Formats: sequence, C-alpha cells, structure tokens
Amino acid sequence: MTLDLAVLEAYHDLTGAAPEGIWRAPGRINLIGEHTDYNDGFVMPFALPQAAYLAAGRRDDGVIRIVSVDLGETFETSLHELRPNHDGWHAYLAGVFWALREAGHDVGGADLALASDVPIGAGLSSSAAIECVLVEALNDLHGLGIAPMARAKLARITENAYVGAPTGLMDQAASTLCTEGHALFLDCRSLQVQQVPLDLAAHGQAILVIDTLTRHSHAGGEYATRRADCEQAARLLGVAALRDVSVDELNRRLPELPDERLARRTRHVVTENQRVLSACAALRADDLPRLGQLMTASHASMRDDYEITEPSVDLAVETALANGALGARMTGGGFGGCVLALAPLDRVEAIATAVTTAFSESGRNVPATFVVLPAAGAGRLA
Ligand code: GLA
Repeated sequence: MTLDLAVLEAYHDLTGAAPEGIWRAPGRINLIGEHTDYNDGFVMPFALPQAAYLAAGRRDDGVIRIVSVDLGETFETSLHELRPNHDGWHAYLAGVFWALREAGHDVGGADLALASDVPIGAGLSSSAAIECVLVEALNDLHGLGIAPMARAKLARITENAYVGAPTGLMDQAASTLCTEGHALFLDCRSLQVQQVPLDLAAHGQAILVIDTLTRHSHAGGEYATRRADCEQAARLLGVAALRDVSVDELNRRLPELPDERLARRTRHVVTENQRVLSACAALRADDLPRLGQLMTASHASMRDDYEITEPSVDLAVETALANGALGARMTGGGFGGCVLALAPLDRVEAIATAVTTAFSESGRNVPATFVVLPAAGAGRLA
C-alpha cells in the first residue's frame, strides 16, 4: 500500500472519519556542505523521493492524538501538557504544536496519522521530514500564512528547543523549500536560496545512495562537541562565525588557534564553504567531473579534519571511487549513515555490486543501495 493510502486508512481507524487533508514532506540528501549550516555557511541539499506522509484533522478540545503507521503505536497528549522532551518519536510532532504556540500562532489540537519511508538515523533527515510535514499541515489547516523559510525555522525550533538536538537549519529548509529537479543552494546567514538545476540523467550520470546501515544519533555527543569547537574557534579568531574566515586567510589565521584540533575543525568548515560555492558553479557550468572532485575532497575533509566519518562510510567511498564514481562522500551529520556517489549511469550497477562485495568480505551487513532523483519539497497532496 502507498503511504498516502496507509495514513488515510490509519486516520479513519483512529477517528472513524476522513482527514481534512494529507501532506507530504521529504527527507533530503546533502550534495555538499557538511557542518557548515551552524557556522553561517553554505549548503546544497536536494529533496528525496522518500518522505513523511501525514493525514490530519483539527480538534477543538486541545487534545492531540497521533498514530504511527510504521510503529503501530498511538500517542495522546494535550496542548497544555506540552513540555520540551525527547522521549520518543512523538516529540518531533508534539514539539511542532509547542513551537507554533510559543511563536504566537493560535493552533488547536488535532488527530494525526503518520507514515514515513525515510530511513531513520541514516543521515537523510527523517526527523526533519516529520517536523516539516506537520508544520505544513497546521499552517494550511489554520490558515496561518507562514512563509516557507519561516516554516522551516519553526521546524528547526522544534528540533533544537523541544527535542533538544542542537542542529542547524539545513534539513528543515531542504524539506520545505526544495523543488523537483533542483538542488537547493542555501546561504545560512542571509537565508537567500537558489534553485540549481540538477538534471544528471541528461549528462549520463546518476546519484547512487549507499546506506551503510551504521546508525548515529545527534541528540548528544559528537555533533554538539563539533559545534562547540567551531564556536570556540570563531571566538578566538574574533569573527561572528567561521563563515567569516576565507580560504585565502586560512594559513595566516590557523596558527592563532591554541591547538591542532581547533585548527582542523576550522580548516574543514572554511574549505567546505568554498567547496559548496565551487560545486554550485560547477553544476551551473555542467562540469560534473569537477563536482565529483569536490565531493571527494569534502569526504577527505570530513574524515581527516572534522573527524566525523567511520570505517564503513570510508570503505563505501573508497570502493565507489575505485569502481568508476566521479566523486563520493558521506552525507549528513556523520558517524555512519549514507554515502552518495556521483557516477556514470553505466557504472551504477557495478559500483553497487562492488560495495556489497567489499562489505560482505569485511564482515559487514549488506548495505542498501538506491538511485535518487531530486524530488519536490513539502506540500499538500491533491
Ligand atoms: C545534521 C543537522 C544539520 C547539519 C548536518 C551536517 O543533518 O541536522 O543541521 O548540521 O547534520 O551538515
């Protein structure tokens, strides 16, 4: 059964009635620009065909009832009980009601049925998809008229202030603002966006996603540590954010930092910002070999300077490159999850096979591999 029908049926089982509508919000894959968003830098994600689907209808008693089709679980709370927490899958939805109300929007209770095929914990923004699909639904149902970037920011507030994960804006902006057939270039300081055409098939290329099945969690730990390192480095360098250091200044400025770790973190962010700008130019010039080189350089920087890769993603990248990919890199927060490889259409199958073999031979679980095309951002289904 398709997910739109699954949530329709689950909503009916929950309420005995039809929903007021069904909404969809996608996961994303980041083409390039990792750990740059919270440094006021640049990112270039695109929306995935995989998405969260939500059937929704308003209630006038302040009660929130949510059924998860995927988990077969129901959760119930009410508007006046909402307190920031990360006690489970429902926090990503309950937190949206909280964030909207904190921002002064008059939203009431609701019945909701949710299903998603965005892999969880794979670096493909499964949580942003859930937050963003509910922001869309409540914006439409209550006629709030919140502009797209402001909707993305509210979804991010849910993640940061309610769930408690100190993430940047990229995932929610991608889920909300991406358009089919394009990557989204986002300047995370000015919040200016550009829709950059990404028609790989026209150039005989494709993006293969390799899900290593190594899982991460961002709620604590390493993500927050990296963020703190960047803030400390920016303070010591006397800039508002690492965005304000240019590649040309890098060699002169790095010796000002007290230790090698902060220097490496800074080098990653500064060079990664430049790689996003170069990748955007390469795409606009149809120079896919150049895009591939930048992706591979991004991976090396995440591995050596930002130290957020791990052996499975490194193996996937190396194997893809050895078998004809133009470029390959880990995507998302790090410590596992997915690799994306830019490859000629006639090499995709061979790369998937080679990665599967390399994983089996090294005693790892067989990775999931699939080709993706840039899909549409969040919206209501007809
Ligand atoms: C996670 C966060 C994003 C971003 C990436 C790393 O996906 O949610 O805000 O920081 O990691 O680029």
